[in-house]
Amino acid sequence: MLLRALYALSTLLQLPALSTAQYVAANGTNSSFPADSDGKYMIEAEGIRALFIPYGASVSNMFIKDRGGVERDVVLGFDNASYYSVDGQHPHLGGVPGRYANRIKNSTFEIDGEVYSVIPNENGGLDTLHGGPDGWDYRNWTVTSHTSDSITFSLRDPDGKEGFPGEVVSFVTYTVTPFTWHLKMTALSITQKTPIMLSSHTYWNLDGFQNPDTPLATNHTLHLPYSGLRIGVDGILIPDGTLLPNEQYSVNDFWSSPKQIGANLTSPEILGNCGTNCSGYDNCYIVTRGQDGPYDWRESPVARLSSEWSGIGVEVFTEQEAFQVYSCVGQNGTLTLKETQGLDDRPRVVEKYGCVVMEVQDWIDGINNPEWQRDSRQIFGPEDEPYVLEATYKFSVK
Ligand SMILES: *[C@@H]1O[C@H](CO)[C@@H](O)[C@H](O)[C@H]1NC(C)=O
Ligand SMILES: *[C@@H]1O[C@H](CO)[C@@H](O)[C@H](O)[C@H]1NC(C)=O
Ligand SMILES: *[C@@H]1O[C@H](CO)[C@@H](O)[C@H](O)[C@H]1NC(C)=O
Ligand SMILES: *[C@@H]1O[C@H](CO)[C@@H](O)[C@H](O)[C@H]1NC(C)=O
Ligand SMILES: *[C@@H]1O[C@H](CO)[C@@H](O)[C@H](O)[C@H]1NC(C)=O
Ligand SMILES: *[C@@H]1O[C@H](CO)[C@@H](O)[C@H](O)[C@H]1NC(C)=O
Ligand SMILES: *[C@@H]1O[C@H](CO)[C@@H](O)[C@H](O)[C@H]1NC(C)=O
Ligand SMILES: *[C@@H]1O[C@H](CO)[C@@H](O)[C@H](O)[C@H]1NC(C)=O
Ligand SMILES: *[C@@H]1O[C@H](CO)[C@@H](O)[C@H](O)[C@H]1NC(C)=O
Repeated sequence: MLLRALYALSTLLQLPALSTAQYVAANGTNSSFPADSDGKYMIEAEGIRALFIPYGASVSNMFIKDRGGVERDVVLGFDNASYYSVDGQHPHLGGVPGRYANRIKNSTFEIDGEVYSVIPNENGGLDTLHGGPDGWDYRNWTVTSHTSDSITFSLRDPDGKEGFPGEVVSFVTYTVTPFTWHLKMTALSITQKTPIMLSSHTYWNLDGFQNPDTPLATNHTLHLPYSGLRIGVDGILIPDGTLLPNEQYSVNDFWSSPKQIGANLTSPEILGNCGTNCSGYDNCYIVTRGQDGPYDWRESPVARLSSEWSGIGVEVFTEQEAFQVYSCVGQNGTLTLKETQGLDDRPRVVEKYGCVVMEVQDWIDGINNPEWQRDSRQIFGPEDEPYVLEATYKFSVK
C-alpha cells in the first residue's frame, strides 16, 4: 500500500524515483542539500529571488524589485531559520498550515459515523487552529530536492499526531519563473480517511515596510473579483454554518471593484467584522467561478494586491475555492521585522494593520458542515487521489 501510494505521488510530482526509506524518513534535514549560513535556501529567476526554510516549509524572504529598481522583501519572516523555533509565538510566518488549515469547531469532526477529537490550541480550548499546537508549520520538513529555481520539502505526519486519524505524507514544491512564484502542495493519506486542507500562510507588505509615509498595508489595494460570498463566523471566528453576502459597497465588498484595505476602517460596519470588538479583516471569502462557464484557473486571478508606493502588484491564480484575508489586526508592534525590511528611523516591528495575509484554501471547517458538500476536497483515504493545491503568484511593477 505504502509503495503504491508513494509511486503515485512521485509520478504526480514528476520527481525522480525516490526510495521508500527516503520518503518515510521525511522528517529530518538532509545534509545533501546544504542551507546558507542563516539556514535558508535560495531560488531565483528574472525579477524574483526567494528564500525558504525547512521549518514549516516556509517562505522567509521574497525579493521583488520596485518601480525604482530597488529590491523590496515583501513577506514577513525571521532573519534565520533557527529563530523560528526560538520565538514560539510566531504567527505561522510564511508556512504551510496542516494537516488541516484554519479552524475546526469544537476540535471534533466525524468521518463515516466515527467522531474524532483533535488537540485544541485556541480560545481556551474551544477549537483547533492550523492543525493543532504542533501543526505542520511548527515542524522541520526535509529538503528532498533543491535547484537554482526550485525547492521541494517533504513531511511524514504519523497516525494519531495531534489527534488526526491515519498517516499522511506530503510534498511541497516551490518554483520560480520570471516574475512568478509557483507553489504545488500534495498530500497522500496512507492508511485511513482523514481531513486534509493546506494553504500558504504568507504575510505581505508590498513596500517591504519601507514606505516612509506609513509602516502599514492599509493603502494596499485588494481586488477579489469572484468573491461575492463569505463564510459566516461567530465572535471567535469559528464558522457558524452560514454563508453571507458581501453586498456591494459593504465593508466586505472587494469584488465589485478594487479597494484599499483601509478604505472602510472608519465605517461603523467594520466593528466585529474580524471577531468580537475587532475592526478589520480575518475572513474566508468564497471563490465562485463556474457561473461564467468552464474556466482555466491559470487564466484569471482570484485576487490582486498592489501598492501605489512601491508600484509592486501581485496576482494570485489558484484552483482553490476559498481565499482567507487577514489584515494583521492581531499584530501590535511586538513582532520584529527582518534586517532586510523596515527603515532605520522607526522601530523595526510589525504594527497593527502592517501586513495582509492571503491564504488560498478550501471552505474553512467544511468537515463540520457536510451540507456544503466539500468532502471530496477535504476528506482523503488510501483509495483516493492525493490532495493537491496549486497556486501561482505573478508580480508586476507599475
Ligand atoms: C538526501 O538527498 C539525496 C539527493 O536526493 C539522496 O541521494 C539521499 O539519499 C538523501 N538522504 C536521506 C537521508 O534522505
Ligand atoms: C524520522 O524517521 C525515522 C525513520 O523512519 C524514525 O526512526 C524517526 O523516529 C523519525 N523521527 C521523527 C521525529 O518523527
Ligand atoms: C537569528 O535571528 C534573530 C532575530 O533576528 C537574532 O536575534 C539571532 O541572534 C539570530 N541568530 C543567529 C544564530 O544568527
Ligand atoms: C528545526 O531546525 C532548526 C534549525 O533550522 C533548529 O534550530 C530546530 O531545533 C529544529 N526544530 C526541530 C523541532 O527539530
Ligand atoms: C464537542 O467535543 C466534545 C469532545 O471534546 C464532544 O463530546 C461533543 O459532542 C462535541 N460537541 C459538538 C456539538 O460537536
Ligand atoms: C492612503 O490612501 C489615502 C486614500 O487614498 C490617502 O488619502 C492617503 O494619503 C494615503 N496614505 C499614504 C501614507 O499613502
Ligand atoms: C467602503 O469604501 C468604498 C471605497 O471607498 C466605498 O465606496 C464604500 O461606500 C465604503 N463602504 C462603507 C460601508 O463604508
Ligand atoms: C468588547 O468591548 C466592550 C467595550 O469596550 C467591552 O465591554 C467588552 O468586554 C469587550 N468584549 C470582549 C469579548 O472583548
Ligand atoms: C502583543 O501580541 C503578542 C503576540 O500575540 C502578545 O503576546 C502580547 O501580549 C501583545 N501585547 C499587547 C500589549 O497586547
